[in-house]
Amino acid sequence: MLNQLLADTRLDAEAARRPPAPVAAELRRPPHRGPLTALPAPSSPRSGLHDVLPERTAVRDYAATPLSGADLSALFAAADRMDARGWPAERAAGVDLELYCAAWRVTGVDTGLYRYRPEQSELCRVANLPDGPEAEELVMQEEFAKAAALVVITGNLAAALARHGSHGHRLLLARAGAAGHAAWLAALRLDLAGTVFAGLLPSVLRARAGADGYHRAALFAFAAGHPIPNLGPPS
Ligand SMILES: Cc1cc2nc3c(=O)[nH]c(=O)nc-3n(C[C@H](O)[C@H](O)[C@H](O)COP(=O)(O)O)c2cc1C
Repeated sequence: MLNQLLADTRLDAEAARRPPAPVAAELRRPPHRGPLTALPAPSSPRSGLHDVLPERTAVRDYAATPLSGADLSALFAAADRMDARGWPAERAAGVDLELYCAAWRVTGVDTGLYRYRPEQSELCRVANLPDGPEAEELVMQEEFAKAAALVVITGNLAAALARHGSHGHRLLLARAGAAGHAAWLAALRLDLAGTVFAGLLPSVLRARAGADGYHRAALFAFAAGHPIPNLGPPS
């Protein structure tokens, strides 16, 4: 079984070395239209990576303090930059990652679900989001609904498979992982806390963001907030 899997993986990797074709237009999904909220310029880091990295740990409880729009902007810019620098050919061929923001406590951004538009550094409103205890319907773990905001990373699985075969799925997951961790590292350097996670509820994203799980598939997420002061490391 394992040998078969490895053999399949090798075949996929070989196929992936062939010059892949651009993605057919019918596999792509148009971006959402909705009211726009301009984001401020991204905050500059407040701490050095080497200073914060030793303390990096998954944090799932957050202070009530809102995120500033500039800090939110920095998280999304970092995630998008990681993908733009790491996978330019995928993006040029039309296999985009789409970044969504579930915002609950962000200064200057109303509670809601938004699509991040990196070219303009703005948020496009996609849907309302419940607040308070009802927000817990969005995620598998209630603590993530208490974050100030989520960076939700989706990708076009249909396009990735058409371009690379099943290797396309692995590629999308690697890209989402890199983008999610870039957002996390940016958060640490802004003295924020959070964790990456994959426990999103597909039904919610389907209903609210048209994420059918194929042309737009939820891949990964990062929950962000201010740390609770004096909260010790998780036991
Ligand atoms: C692919 C992936 C999926 C994850 N999914 C979840 C999740 O659904 N819920 C959760 O609480 N943490 C999730 N995590 C976060 C890990 O649980 C976290 O990194 C782990 O607890 C290690 O903690 P540390 O980073 O503090 O060492 C995920 C991490 C990865 C890499």
